[in-house]
Amino acid sequence: MQTRTNKTNQGVEIEVMRASEDGMSAPAIPKVHVSETVPAVNTSAEIKIDVRHADFFYGARQALYDVSLPMLEGQVTALIGPSGCGKTTFLRTLNRMNDLIPGTRIQGEAILDGENIYDKAIDVVLLRQRVGMVFQRANPFPKSIFDNVAYGLQVQGRPREEVGEVVEQSLRDAALWGEVKDRLKTSALGLSGGQQQRLCIARALAVKPEVLLMDEPCSALDPIATLKIEELITQLSKDYTIVIVTHNMQQAARVSQFTGFFLSGKLIEYASTVNIFAHPQKKETEDYISGRFG
Ligand SMILES: Nc1ncnc2c1ncn2[C@@H]1O[C@H](COP(=O)(O)OP(=O)(O)OP(=O)(O)O)[C@@H](O)[C@H]1O
Ligand SMILES: [Mg+2]
Repeated sequence: MQTRTNKTNQGVEIEVMRASEDGMSAPAIPKVHVSETVPAVNTSAEIKIDVRHADFFYGARQALYDVSLPMLEGQVTALIGPSGCGKTTFLRTLNRMNDLIPGTRIQGEAILDGENIYDKAIDVVLLRQRVGMVFQRANPFPKSIFDNVAYGLQVQGRPREEVGEVVEQSLRDAALWGEVKDRLKTSALGLSGGQQQRLCIARALAVKPEVLLMDEPCSALDPIATLKIEELITQLSKDYTIVIVTHNMQQAARVSQFTGFFLSGKLIEYASTVNIFAHPQKKETEDYISGRFG
């Protein structure tokens, strides 16, 4: 078997193994290699959300099985796995978005700063401010750019002057301010897909979350817009705990310090991103990251 290694400008090596010349052989198998450019792990980071033994059900159908996964403060945790394995379901348990789906049920614990998110007594509105979410497809409201970012603040009844300041800061933090500062009153729907996604990130940041959940935030974007969002994630991880679902393993390797691999509703393996990609412990993980299924 012959091996070819490509090095991308993001420092992630993609090794493509090809069948031997005489070969009876399998198609090229991409394999993600992580190099020293993967974001460094903060070894003293504390656990921000600690999910313990979570089982989740859509009616009678179980979608998560005994998932235990810590998410570290100020670090990016990537969730990977084939379609339908439960990544979105897991992400939505972290701010109880699943509560909005009738007939769902969860068992287990998710401890956020000492409190169980799943506890019936938890204030869900406050929880969703602390644990914000950005979706796969940018979903700006049919309102102006300003009003999109101001939305959560206006709901909170914050004073006008303060709203203006926070909108500007959130747009700056989402790396969008320069592109929109002269058109804040125009419709958000006139922005490009990548700009709309950064607008949604600004909207999430405006209410000062502690944790940011991102469900395939780049899947509808071109490579340039994707790169911008990835740089933004790296920047934001200095201040926020980020959990990102991605189908792009190079992306997981570029932005995250930790990775969890899901399969059929179970967390098969969780480790530092370097270890998941360079030294997977489970055969299923190795098969998945080397492109053998999924
Ligand atoms: N609202 C729902 N009602 C019933 N079953 C659901 C619902 N949403 C998801 N499921 C099921 O739960 C399982 C996990 O789905 P989930 O959306 O979490 O997967 P995923 O890993 O995010 O997949 P993808 O990569 O395609 O987004 C699937 O079998 C799916 O069909
Ligand atoms: Mg999903």
